[in-house]
Amino acid sequence: MKSKYIDLRNYKKDEEISKLIKPAESINAGKLVLFPTETVYGIGANALDEEAVKKIFKAKGRQQDNPLIVHISNIEMLNIVAYDIGKIEQKLIDAFWPGPLTIIFKKKDIVPNNVTAGLDTVAVRMPNNKIAKTLIEYSKVPIAAPSANISGKPSGTLIEDIIDELDGKVEYIIDSGIVEIGVESTVVRVVNEKVHILRPGKVSQEQIQDLGLEVVIEKQILDSYDQQEKVMSPGVKYKHYAPNTKCILIYSNDNEKLVNKINEKINENNNQKVLILTKTKNFNKYKIKNKLDMGNSLEEISKNIFTYLRKADSYKVDLVIIEGVEKEGLGLAIMNRLIRACENNYIEF
Ligand code: TXA
Ligand code: MG
Repeated sequence: MKSKYIDLRNYKKDEEISKLIKPAESINAGKLVLFPTETVYGIGANALDEEAVKKIFKAKGRQQDNPLIVHISNIEMLNIVAYDIGKIEQKLIDAFWPGPLTIIFKKKDIVPNNVTAGLDTVAVRMPNNKIAKTLIEYSKVPIAAPSANISGKPSGTLIEDIIDELDGKVEYIIDSGIVEIGVESTVVRVVNEKVHILRPGKVSQEQIQDLGLEVVIEKQILDSYDQQEKVMSPGVKYKHYAPNTKCILIYSNDNEKLVNKINEKINENNNQKVLILTKTKNFNKYKIKNKLDMGNSLEEISKNIFTYLRKADSYKVDLVIIEGVEKEGLGLAIMNRLIRACENNYIEF
């Protein structure tokens, strides 16, 4: 059966927000609802209902050992699912919630084990999106939600991109058009007074440091950085976000050198069909037919990147070349996703 579709692409009016009452009832009845957040779309279920949460894993084809994020709309809900909220966590909450920051806490027993994949911790975030907030408020329960995509595929930032893979697997699909940010939330855990970034996102290392906090970037995020020109071997553990077509990520902080390098690559592969994902400023510097303009700012690129990774296969090329970005601010999150999309096939010089 097809999912019920709710169009909230112009949701400014309160009467439209009331369209969320039925989906909230579905959450309470143990069903799944696909809904927008400011980062990416999510597939939500009542986080306190083990059977409902099982359906999420089934819908996504997700590994049982990969825990979910619990979405809340107020601080009372945090206290329902977590305890021992430390000073540093409180500082992060005050600075970034509601917003694209997920914090790992000690889990209370009320949270079913499948939400946290058996861990004694729970990941929590308060989204900054009117629809997400209202859906949680109306259902009066925290909502467990992974990104809306089949496991391994890029996260959904636009309903058109994911409708084929998820239609019929959820009770409701709530469409609010393209999301605001485009990459998933920053995931952090405080260990020995230091903020460890487990997954980079819109809330950046620099913003957290600005609060006077010490930040540790987890090794796997930076794995293939700070290398001289070097192609990393494909990492099995990075199979995520990847198009079916072979991809290569190329970056230099010298833009002219970057363009030259990519043109060299095109020439090397002159009997192959190539698609380039390029910044606007470089678009006209590549004399090939297949090009996608990612935008110039990190904000634009982050919004477009998952849609373009999905689109790449439709060009039926032999190779996709992607321009990298600087690894500051939101750039770290973009590069983290692109390195995975390219399965570590990454050149930086
Ligand atoms: O922006 C987002 O975070 C989106 C929207 C829907 O909120 N959600 C999202 O969920 O990206 P998902 O399931 O695709 O990614 C959750 C990430 C995974 O990397 C998971 O391993 C990590 O959070 N995670 C969840 N619980 C954890 C825990 N207790 N300890 C460590 N990592 C955890
Ligand atoms: Mg995901």
